[in-house]
Amino acid sequence: MLFVKKSLSKGLKTVLDSINASHGLDEEKISQMLEYPPDEKMGDIALPCFKLSKTLRMSPVMISERIASELKDENIDRIETVNGYLNIYVKRSYFSENVLGKILDGKDSYGSFDFGKGKTVVLDYSSPNVAKPFHIGHLGTTVIGHSLKKLHEFAGYKCVGVNHLGDWGTQFGKLIVAYNLWGDKKTIEEKGIDELVALYVRFHKEAEKDPTLNDKARAEFTKLEHFDEENIKLWKWFIDISIEEYKKTYKQLDIEFDSYCGESFYSDKMPAVIEEMKQKNLLKIDDGASVVDLEEYKMPPCLILKRDGSSLYPARDISAALYRKQTYDFEKVVYVTDAGQSLHFAQWFKVVELMGYEWAKNLVHVPYGKVSLNGEKLATRTGNVILLKDLFASAIEKVKDIMNEKNPNLENRDEKAVAVGVGAIVFYYLSNNRIKDINFMLEDALNFDGNTGPYAQYTYARTCSVLEKAQSIDRSGKTSYEINDKEKALLRTLSLFPEKVLQALNDYEPSVITRYILDVCTDFNGFYHDCQILGADDEDTKIFRLDLTEATKYVLGNAFSLICMRKTEKI
Ligand code: ARG
Repeated sequence: MLFVKKSLSKGLKTVLDSINASHGLDEEKISQMLEYPPDEKMGDIALPCFKLSKTLRMSPVMISERIASELKDENIDRIETVNGYLNIYVKRSYFSENVLGKILDGKDSYGSFDFGKGKTVVLDYSSPNVAKPFHIGHLGTTVIGHSLKKLHEFAGYKCVGVNHLGDWGTQFGKLIVAYNLWGDKKTIEEKGIDELVALYVRFHKEAEKDPTLNDKARAEFTKLEHFDEENIKLWKWFIDISIEEYKKTYKQLDIEFDSYCGESFYSDKMPAVIEEMKQKNLLKIDDGASVVDLEEYKMPPCLILKRDGSSLYPARDISAALYRKQTYDFEKVVYVTDAGQSLHFAQWFKVVELMGYEWAKNLVHVPYGKVSLNGEKLATRTGNVILLKDLFASAIEKVKDIMNEKNPNLENRDEKAVAVGVGAIVFYYLSNNRIKDINFMLEDALNFDGNTGPYAQYTYARTCSVLEKAQSIDRSGKTSYEINDKEKALLRTLSLFPEKVLQALNDYEPSVITRYILDVCTDFNGFYHDCQILGADDEDTKIFRLDLTEATKYVLGNAFSLICMRKTEKI
């Protein structure tokens, strides 16, 4: 409906100009005042006139009457004024011709934009800490991050997805000590990352009894920092094993990264950056450590170097940002992490600003809430963690059971079970506002009858099955067609897709798309139940309804891909 909003804003501005030329609103502002009423009986678009009352010095009721009598727009069917609201009814033909035509022409690109053309966005997401478990807590950064990447690509941006691996730090000292004491090459080769995590967990347990292990770990990490050959070899090996394992999970999500440059990548770039901070008089020595004082900005100091001169997390992020600016000349960088890291990002963004880089304002932190599973809090230290791969595996298993029961003859069952099982988790996760804490209930996520991923995929498959049955029908001879209420409701919802994409982009909020998918499904299923498609009374109706079904298929498909959920033509 963006198109209607635009033309209405133009018309509205003309009327407002004639009432009082000094209203100070441009078309953009007027467009932002337009609302979509919750109930169609209140029009397709409404303008609440209260906000205009003060500037125009007229009562909202009078303003709405005046606009109603003067506003002209070829897409308007009629206007009603109710208590200071201007309720605008759009012509049904607008939906059945313009909207439908746009979707069928646009196909896979319906809802996309090109305002990002020629600009690059770097997205820093997923970024697990090597040797620590890749658990359900990482689901947020992984799927929100990838969805934001898809959204930006859909807006025309060139996107660079970076997995800023936590591949540097004292945990490697611990792992090296644990490996040297209790590790076995063969077991690691067989069990991969699980064995590394087991060693890591064992280290913590043993270190409780024998604290000298911690000193040993620090010493091993220092050796690593000084490029000790043996430790470097082990470290590389640990990382390769971990990445290999992550990639299996990413594959199930259809995620590929453009770069795996983790924290260690910036080791040799750091000295120059630290030197620059010194030159710019930003570093202060505090109890032996180097920090940037941020008191003036009401934040604790940003820690750059430890007493022993080794770099800290913020220093690596600052170096990475400078490197990325040079390498990608980005328009902005989007960092997706849990909300617990908000202060970290606010601090070092400030430091980059203080270093004099005006692009610091284009560094965006996108935080999300905590996850618990079936009501239980997760804690890495105690071992109460649910690995992402295990969560996916159990969802896939459950979906297979449901499929066996509901559709025993389904082809490519394994592949579909991955699409539906993993899709269910992604959809469930992205159903809530990202900042809210979420309690993950696997049963709910997999419920085919609820507002879930499987329900959405089922609806998509339904559009495919109708179209498959209609393959031989020639739909070229279109005539104009008077749509009924269900068809209108569906088309109106489909017409909102581009705006939803914009909203999701502006708010960095993939859940806008997830919830929108449910609206489309509700309206399509309402239409499907009430209106015969293949059994329609006459040819024109049948053709129109098939077109509408196809349009729904495109919109759902495009929306699925924005939230990294696979499409399945049959389930
Ligand atoms: N590895 C970090 C963690 O698991 C997340 C890294 C986020 N990205 C960044 N550039 N700091 O907590």
